Amino acid sequence: MLRLFYSAISQVNSIQRLLGESSWGVKGPETPSQASPYHLFSNADEVARFRASLLSWYDQAKRDLPWRRRAAGETDPDRRAYSVWVSEIMLQQTQVATVIGYYTRWMQKWPALQDLAGASLEEVNQLWAGLGYYSRGRRLQEGARKVVEELGGHIPRTADMLQKLLPGVGRYTAGAIASIAFGQVTGVVDGNVTRVLCRVRAIGADLGSPLVTQHLWRLAQQLVDPARPGDFNQAAMELGATVCTPRGPLCPECPVRGFCQAQKRVTKEQAVTSQRLLGSPEQETLDVEECAPQRAGLCPLCLPPSEPWRQDLGVANFPRQPARKAPREQRAAVCILQQPGSETSRFLLVQRPSSGLLAGLWEFPSVPAEGTESVQRQALVKALRSWVVGPLPLKSLRCLGEVVHIFSHIRQTYVVYSLALEEPTQGQPPSGARWVSRAEFQAAAVPTAMKKVHQLFEGQPSGRRKASKSPQDPATSGPGPGRQHRQLTLSAFFKSAAAP
Ligand code: ADE
Repeated sequence: MLRLFYSAISQVNSIQRLLGESSWGVKGPETPSQASPYHLFSNADEVARFRASLLSWYDQAKRDLPWRRRAAGETDPDRRAYSVWVSEIMLQQTQVATVIGYYTRWMQKWPALQDLAGASLEEVNQLWAGLGYYSRGRRLQEGARKVVEELGGHIPRTADMLQKLLPGVGRYTAGAIASIAFGQVTGVVDGNVTRVLCRVRAIGADLGSPLVTQHLWRLAQQLVDPARPGDFNQAAMELGATVCTPRGPLCPECPVRGFCQAQKRVTKEQAVTSQRLLGSPEQETLDVEECAPQRAGLCPLCLPPSEPWRQDLGVANFPRQPARKAPREQRAAVCILQQPGSETSRFLLVQRPSSGLLAGLWEFPSVPAEGTESVQRQALVKALRSWVVGPLPLKSLRCLGEVVHIFSHIRQTYVVYSLALEEPTQGQPPSGARWVSRAEFQAAAVPTAMKKVHQLFEGQPSGRRKASKSPQDPATSGPGPGRQHRQLTLSAFFKSAAAP
């Protein structure tokens, strides 16, 4: 009877009605009226059972993470919100395991908002070095200053106000801070939650579609537990991070397996395959667990008909990953310029502009690597002359090889050169430049890409770094660009760095 009902409805609904004022689903402020019931939680009892299963799993399985411990033990709401804010910013695009050390160092250095507000950008960049996406640290500090100087030291209490008033705080981060630190009943959707929800409600449509985004946020809002919103949100993230993983999910361990439409679809597809293998006649397989509109190819939340079910993926058919855009290729020539010193040699670092990629960070002088090697060398020498007064022994300019670093959307190749000055430079370097020892280099606000460049330099046989080994024609000889250098392991790097 139900089957007939759904298939009749699927005939009369068009995509426009699904997107518009259709009567699908349970009406109410927290449920999307336009989605098929298949992609929703259809009653309060199911929602309550889902919450209880997820939270009781979280209570016994959650990882002991420093920000969770800190938030749980902090009675002052502003201090608590600050500790959550820092963690959520660091966790954007960065793995938990990497964040733990940075978070711990950060909270030791700046335990309260007021401490961060008084820090310099240089200190922030220095502590952030290696974490990537450096504008996150800068904005965090701008936000702390704003709270201290303009908001009386009080962090906004609701997700809406957090998003409106704090730089770098988007919808997800605002919801996470508001729910975890202030107990606001607001759902959140990050990458992990997206995967959990897409599997639990079999959402296979393009994640870039606004309709899918809207549906996920509505589902999150429908599900969040009013009694424990912060824990519920973290439980959903935890499930995505540890059980409902992108590849190789641990379905037998999943506390909400019984609610998972993706799991049901896997079981059904396996049954269909077995039937076929056994040569049994095809049976009608539609039941109430299927998305009725999809029968007519009309569901904007289902796997599109152009993307058939893949048996090998199992539940990982949801969500379907959009094809990634290839990162932009960029090349730069970079020079490690050394000067001799009484105790140790020093390297020249120059500061990047205060906006754009790696804003304000320190790097070896570089220029875009365009044209022939000879053109690159000339451009590099011109750049060096703008930083250094005095003779440059160009005969010792050597090309050491290439280093590749992937930024989020850029595949950056550095063609690495070295040049050793014969005499120490006189006077102070111009503003925006400084000479650092190897130890100072390691502690400076230097991006990971430059650490890799330095690692290549350190990995060279020491004789190669000496000016005396210069090639005949510095413009055309030397190892030359084009080879990618083997990266040293960390321990090999430290060994080589410690070598006399
Ligand atoms: N990712 C984002 N926020 C998180 C949190 N609070 N705990 C663990 N992983 C997270």
